[in-house]
Amino acid sequence: NKLSSEVMCFSKTIKFLFSLDKWCIIAQNTAKSLLSTNRPSHKIDENKDNKSSSWENGRSLEKGRTAIAFSLKNEVGGLVKALKLFQENHVNLVHIESRKSRRRGSEFEIFVDCDSSHEQLKELTDLLRKHAANVVDMDHDQPDNSSLPEEDTEDIPWFPKTISDLDMCANRVLMYGLDLDADHPGFKDNVYRKRRKHFADLAMSYKHGNPIPHIEFTEEEVKTWGVVYRELNKLYPTHACREYLKNLPLLSKHCDYREDNIPQLEDVSHFLRERTGFIIRPVAGYLSPRDFLAGLAFRVFHCTQYVRHSSDPLYTPEPDTCHELLGHVPLLAEPSFAQFSQEIGLASLGASDESVQTLATCYFFTVEFGLCKQEGKMRAYGAGLLSSISELKHALSDNAKIMPFDPKVTCKQECIITTFQDVYFVSESFEEAKVKMREFAKTIKRPFTVRYNPYTHSVDVLKDTSSINSMVEDLRHELDIVADALQRLNKHYAV
Ligand SMILES: [Fe+2]
Repeated sequence: NKLSSEVMCFSKTIKFLFSLDKWCIIAQNTAKSLLSTNRPSHKIDENKDNKSSSWENGRSLEKGRTAIAFSLKNEVGGLVKALKLFQENHVNLVHIESRKSRRRGSEFEIFVDCDSSHEQLKELTDLLRKHAANVVDMDHDQPDNSSLPEEDTEDIPWFPKTISDLDMCANRVLMYGLDLDADHPGFKDNVYRKRRKHFADLAMSYKHGNPIPHIEFTEEEVKTWGVVYRELNKLYPTHACREYLKNLPLLSKHCDYREDNIPQLEDVSHFLRERTGFIIRPVAGYLSPRDFLAGLAFRVFHCTQYVRHSSDPLYTPEPDTCHELLGHVPLLAEPSFAQFSQEIGLASLGASDESVQTLATCYFFTVEFGLCKQEGKMRAYGAGLLSSISELKHALSDNAKIMPFDPKVTCKQECIITTFQDVYFVSESFEEAKVKMREFAKTIKRPFTVRYNPYTHSVDVLKDTSSINSMVEDLRHELDIVADALQRLNKHYAV
């Protein structure tokens, strides 16, 4: 039952994904046939006459499911003539749809799903070309590459297309090194400022692919880290979410998380890459929301490497390595959370300043200050909370105002940096938060969507039918894998 409900759910997703355009219909039908019969696509077994593969005069007669789209002039008998060509060529029609052409009002577009051999298909399309206004063999021809008009895309802000493009935006820090504010605890400490300059220089000279510099932390820095580590670890069992509690011991084991040792970012980056594909990139200080979110799109997390000033180990006005290592890293090792983070990043690429701000606010109240409910209790998953003793206690106390996470509402909430938040937002799970963010991301004004390519660590911009068609091809392959897996399960459990 579980398997069939998962298949139903999957089927619904596929139908939703491919409900809009003709190229998508192919994949939908492929998915339907895969899911209803649990057999690989492009194999025919309903029609005994067409069942086997054979060769005639050196030509393959193996039949497969094929989609053809053609347009016809709006005239009496046009469709009958076209369909007769299928009959005369012994091509079995499986599915047919028609719609008024969106490009030419005097034409109708016909989409046909049929069983045919390669040779039959070639002959048929040649005949159809004589008869119809426009013919596309969806399996073999390149359809018209309809793309967005240039004027729709020319005002889009620049954004990184590959992971190494982050080199061009990771150094645009808003505050770093010697530029500490007058109210920063280390403002009057020249030794501390010199140390900060050292960390800033390391981060500014970093390029994608370099190993992250190993840091010999000073005794004072380790002591500061130790206080933060010890005090927070007292709260985690009762305040942190279960995913955090699961991953923190793994970090102790693999990355030397200890009270008397500050973990190295390079070790942490290796660990995360193996768990979720996230990697760490050192950064000198605060990035703009646009540049920071762009990193997430590529599963790159920008991390500061300096330690807060020793005068007040439990307070920092800015992110430091204690905040990154104790607040962010354990959750970035969680696949569902990693996916959630990346999706916010992908939604931000090429979005307007206004849209980036709304996404950054949602990021702030989830990844930084988010709460979730687990076993009927409120727990923290936001890094700003999990790295701040006082705010972690406050957020889970009766004094905190809690509201359900709803991106439409959350994006309007003011982010407070210097004191506790006025309100915290709670999600049932990362999955729920992800679904809500996904829906919200669709409302972002952007004339295209993007898809992450994990093989090349780049984003594909889906702004024309060619790029969408290429994605459909990839999905077909994925669906084949799903069908194969289901078939093997069926055999095993005889369901
Ligand atoms: Fe943070």
